[in-house]
Amino acid sequence: MSRFDDVCRGTEDSFGVSPEVVASAPGRLEILGNHTDYNEGVVLSTAVDCRTYFAVARNREDMKCRVKELSQGQSRCFGLDIAQEELPHSDWGNYVKGVVACLQQRGVNVPAFQGCILGDVPLSAGMSSSAALEMSLVYGLLCLSGESLEWQEIARVGQQAENDYVGAQTGLLDQYSSINGVANNFVFCDFRSYEVKTVPVPEGVALVVANSKVKHSLTDEYNERRKDCEAAVSFLQSHGENVDSLRDVDRKLLGKYKEQMEPLPYHRALHVTGENERVKEALTLLEREDLEGFGKLLNASHESSRINFQNSTPELDILVALSQEYNGVYGARLSGGGFGGITVHAVPDTVTSAYSEYLRAEYKKQTGVDPDIITCHSGDGASAERIKAAGALS
Ligand code: GLA
Repeated sequence: MSRFDDVCRGTEDSFGVSPEVVASAPGRLEILGNHTDYNEGVVLSTAVDCRTYFAVARNREDMKCRVKELSQGQSRCFGLDIAQEELPHSDWGNYVKGVVACLQQRGVNVPAFQGCILGDVPLSAGMSSSAALEMSLVYGLLCLSGESLEWQEIARVGQQAENDYVGAQTGLLDQYSSINGVANNFVFCDFRSYEVKTVPVPEGVALVVANSKVKHSLTDEYNERRKDCEAAVSFLQSHGENVDSLRDVDRKLLGKYKEQMEPLPYHRALHVTGENERVKEALTLLEREDLEGFGKLLNASHESSRINFQNSTPELDILVALSQEYNGVYGARLSGGGFGGITVHAVPDTVTSAYSEYLRAEYKKQTGVDPDIITCHSGDGASAERIKAAGALS
């Protein structure tokens, strides 16, 4: 049975109703452009073929919202008057509450509902299981209420839910990627102009993803990095430079202030400006199908994360070092927020299985940990479909 069938069956078994709507949304892989989104920069990402499904029906019995996550069997229940409820920040139920509250704030008349969630996006790994969850909820609840929002606003609902209800001051990359994914394509996003375009993935390249199994949390260190970036911008502004964000900064300008700036803001800014440059270069290289050149940019990005942004970990460094010892691999880097989670490896598709086995064995030898290694394909973006009117099952 497919996950679609499983989540429908789960709703019937848990609540005694057939779902009216089933929505699903993918996780994403950040290919290049690390921590650039909230600095008005550019990113190359892809939606993946791992998705979160949300099957939902109106609750006609009382005014409660009930959700059950099927893989762990955990349920959450809250009233539509979200302001009166408090859950600890880290609770997954806050994503649901946050999405409902943010939809309400935009005038969407969310009905009381009952529904189930089931997904296969690895959790807390850097593949944005959170955006997959948020986007499946937003698409599902909008479809259930018969209302619509512009896709950019849908993305902001997810971001705001994460910022205000979970406490991570994340940008819009994850939601933009989850919405705009197209199979066999990367997604290019410009977070100043909000331009989004697809970029074909060249033939013959596979994306191997290695989960270091170091769990990452995007609340504390992520928020600190954001502040360092803001401090760099404030410094430049206070020295008369005409910059609104790190998007307006290049290496030459930073070089001018190297001696005067505090080392942390300087190095964080160096990472972000370098990433913006690498993304732009990658577009040209991908168009020429220059995978060797593209891979070098991935390696350079990781090195900059390690040294300048300090969002790598020894485990992620091991995975990237292993890639550089394997003949033919184009390049590898940490993907997503960092501080644990995953690395993404661009490899010739002919070596995928042998390379995955090599990574698994060598990583285990060096760390004692069995990593999860998967081959990801670029997948389609979020969607919702109406199934039928809900009714009690006989
Ligand atoms: C996380 C955030 C994104 C982005 C990346 C780093 O995935 O949710 O908004 O900042 O980290 O590029």
